[in-house]
Formats: sequence, C-alpha cells, structure tokens
Amino acid sequence: VPVEPFDLAIFGATGDLALGKLLPSLFHRWCDRQIPESSRIIAVARDELDDDAFRQLVRQRYLDGHERNLDEDSNWQAFAERLTYVPLNAADRDGSWDKLQDVFGTSENLRLFYLALPPSLYAPVSENLAHHALNVPGSRIVLEKPIGSNFHTAREINERVGAVFGEDAIFRIDHYLGKESVQNLLILRFGNFLFEPMWNATGIDHVQITVAESVGAGKRASYYDTAGALRDMVQNHLLQLMCLVAMEPPSDLGADTVRTEKLKILQALRPIGRAEITDKVIRAQYSSGAIKGVAVPGYQEELGSKSGTETFVSVKAEIDNWRWAGVPFYLRTGKRMSRRYSEIVIQFKPVPHDVVQADSGKIQPNRLIIRLQPDEAVRLMLMTKDPGPGGVRLRYVPLNLSYADTFEKDYPDAYERLLMAVIRGNLGLFMRRDEVEAAWRWTDRILQSWEDAQSPLQTYPAGTDGPTASALMLARDNREWFDEGSA
Ligand code: BG6
Repeated sequence: VPVEPFDLAIFGATGDLALGKLLPSLFHRWCDRQIPESSRIIAVARDELDDDAFRQLVRQRYLDGHERNLDEDSNWQAFAERLTYVPLNAADRDGSWDKLQDVFGTSENLRLFYLALPPSLYAPVSENLAHHALNVPGSRIVLEKPIGSNFHTAREINERVGAVFGEDAIFRIDHYLGKESVQNLLILRFGNFLFEPMWNATGIDHVQITVAESVGAGKRASYYDTAGALRDMVQNHLLQLMCLVAMEPPSDLGADTVRTEKLKILQALRPIGRAEITDKVIRAQYSSGAIKGVAVPGYQEELGSKSGTETFVSVKAEIDNWRWAGVPFYLRTGKRMSRRYSEIVIQFKPVPHDVVQADSGKIQPNRLIIRLQPDEAVRLMLMTKDPGPGGVRLRYVPLNLSYADTFEKDYPDAYERLLMAVIRGNLGLFMRRDEVEAAWRWTDRILQSWEDAQSPLQTYPAGTDGPTASALMLARDNREWFDEGSA
C-alpha cells in the first residue's frame, strides 16, 4: 500500500539505534519500494560530518551487520541520495537550527521527527522544534522507550512533549509491539474461538513470560547501569506482553480500543509493597560464567566498577480483576542467561480426576506455548498415548505450528513495521500516554519497596537461567519455570 512522501529527521543519527536499526530498516523498506521517491531522511547529530561522510558511516555499519554487497547495488545508491546530514546539537536552543530549517524549506512532505536520544532530551528537543517553528501542523514525533526513568520523569516528558505535539502525533515505541509474533497474539486470541472460553481463572492455572538474553550489558553499560532490568525490560516489554495476554476482548482492533483495554490491565495490577517484595520479586546480577562454552566476565567486571544494578528480575504479578483472580503471571528477564529466547507459557488447569492410571508417565497440564523469538512458533502441549503395546504409556507432545515450516515469507523486522506504522499514522502499535504512566506507577512501587526493604541482590553465573531464588519463588507456589527441553 503506497504511503505519502515524508521528510524524516532522525535526531541522534550517529548513535547505535539509528545506525544499527533505523537506517537499515529504512533501507529495506526502500528496496521493497515502500518509500516514495521524493521522501528524504534528514540525519541530525552533533558530529561535524557532511552528507558523504554520513553516507559512508551508514554504509559501513550496514555492512557490519548484513551480508549484502552494496557496491553495485543501485538500490543502495538511490537510497544514499535520500540521506542528508545536518550537524546540530539539538539540545541547544541557540545552535545552528537555521541549517535544519533550510533543509526542510518549503517541503510539503509529511514531517516526522524521530528522537533516537536519551529520554532526558525528549522535552527540550521538542520545545526547541517548536521554538524554531519546525513543528508544522500534521508533523509527528517518535520517542523510544524508556519514557523517563520513573513516573514523575515520564509525566514531565509527556506534559512537555504534549504541549508541542498532540497525543495523536506522538508515537511512543516499544519495539516488542512491532514483532510479528507479538502481533500474532491478538489474532491467536481473537481469531480463534477455541481458547477464549477457557482464557480465565477457571481454565488457566498461571502464565509465564520469559524474555531471556545471552548478551551482557556490553557497550550500553553506562545507560544500563542507571536503568537495570526492571526499568529496561519489565516496565515496558514484559508488561506490554502481559497486557496482550490478559486484556478483555476489544470490540475492534482500533488503536484506542486496544490501548484502553491494555490500560485497564495495567491499572488492575496489584501493587507490590514492602511486606511482599522478597517473596514476589527477585533481583539478581550475573557473575562470571560461560555461554556456549565461552568464558564471559561478570557484570561488574564488564562495567569496570562496583554496581548494585540488577541484570535479572523475576516477578509474581497479579491482576485484580474478575477474569484473573488467583492466576499469577510470572515474569522474568535477564541478560547473560543460557540462551536468547522469548516465550509465553499459558498453563491450563490440571484434569480434575485421573481416569487414565497410566503404566508409565504422568498426566501434565496442557500448555499453550507462544514462542516469540528467535524461532517463532505456537505449540499446544497435549497428553497422548505412546503408540504400541506395553500398556498405557503417556507422552506429552506438542501440536506444533512452526513459522519456519509453515510460512515461506520473510517478514519485516520490528523497526521496519514500526517506521511504516508511523508514516501511515497507525497508533495501535505505540503506547499511549496513560499506559506508560500506569506502567511506571506499578514499577515505581517495586523500586520503592526494594529500597524500603533493602532487598538483597542475588547473583547467578553467566550462562544459567537466573538465581535459585527465582526457582524457589515458583516452588513455594508448587510450580516451576517450564522448560520444554526437560518436559
Ligand atoms: C531493548 C533493551 O529495549 O530491548 C535492551 O533496552 C534489550 O536491553 C532489547 O537487549 C531486547 O530486544 P530484542 O528485540 O533483541 O529482544
């Protein structure tokens, strides 16, 4: 579907997000002819570069991450010509904004501002855009998560950016919402009749959401150390996934209809106070270890200084509404875990009475496993009889929908989808102001309880699935983290 021509200004254009994700995504959409030829990408950053030097930088970074020969690629040549570079410290109101004004000139293209910058700059840069009259009617602004570092900073950003851009012109990115497999959650739930009648406290015992990474804090350590896993991952990605699993069926898939249903879940989250913090939230940091046989240093060694920041967190979250009363949502995420994978496990109630009395094997509860990455799949785990003689031997096997085996097509990555959604004005893939603030309220309470209770920081060796305390948290509820490999 064609989109209207646009001028996209990327602030922070020499940073990791812009070079590593945004520009490659735009290039891929360009190659697929989704970007109208009269569109322009205006790169803004403090470095003193010219157009050519910037194009070289983009090219080099692209080649670092992709196997593709750009030398005789006419797509690349044409794309590079769409790139203009403007050196500017956008936080400085008196900087050389006239250059940027000149570049925009009288262009009537749809105007987009992408702030690939630290959140502390979102408000000042928006105000500077207004001061220099760049926010012409119809322009849109894109902000990356995290919006602030707590409820108060998030609210201040929302207020100040909101004074310049209307809510419908603000696109707050949580890139998990752009993932194909995350979008599929809505279709799986609401495009099938099968699950919904059991999708509640009567049918479901509990839910687990895991986002495990094998990378460490790496180059981003200076940001990460001020954030930690709770702010970096749970406040946004994991809560958004939880909302999609837990929300009521919306009456349609309109942006605000869905966002309102997600908000209700965030508002129904039970606050975790000081008295329960140790039982319901585990915080931990990785020490040295090995990943796939390769030795890796501990977090503090990587950082080069002492630190009390958590790189792993697991939470027992509870939603105080009719549908989910008594159904915990166990969330966990960590860096330097044994492998990279994201998965949602919906565990159904056990059968009420064992009529089978098998000769071997034990009846296990049905589980619906939604594998978000890296190998997208949906598996419904069922009990079956192992075929053949020898009595009733039970086997726990999946009905297996593997994306790789079922769908031929390559699909765009999250940033490609999100950038196109901004251009199309589709707000449904972005977080509304009230969602972000509600998520921070609940997160802040945990941070406060950690402080009040002086919550201990556990450790786990790099390359493992987190600290023992996280397993014990579930064991106390007679449950365990599900690992398909050991099922
Ligand atoms: C980002 C976090 O939002 O998501 C990173 O800031 C994390 O710390 C990343 O590594 C994970 O994203 P993905 O798409 O690789 O799962």
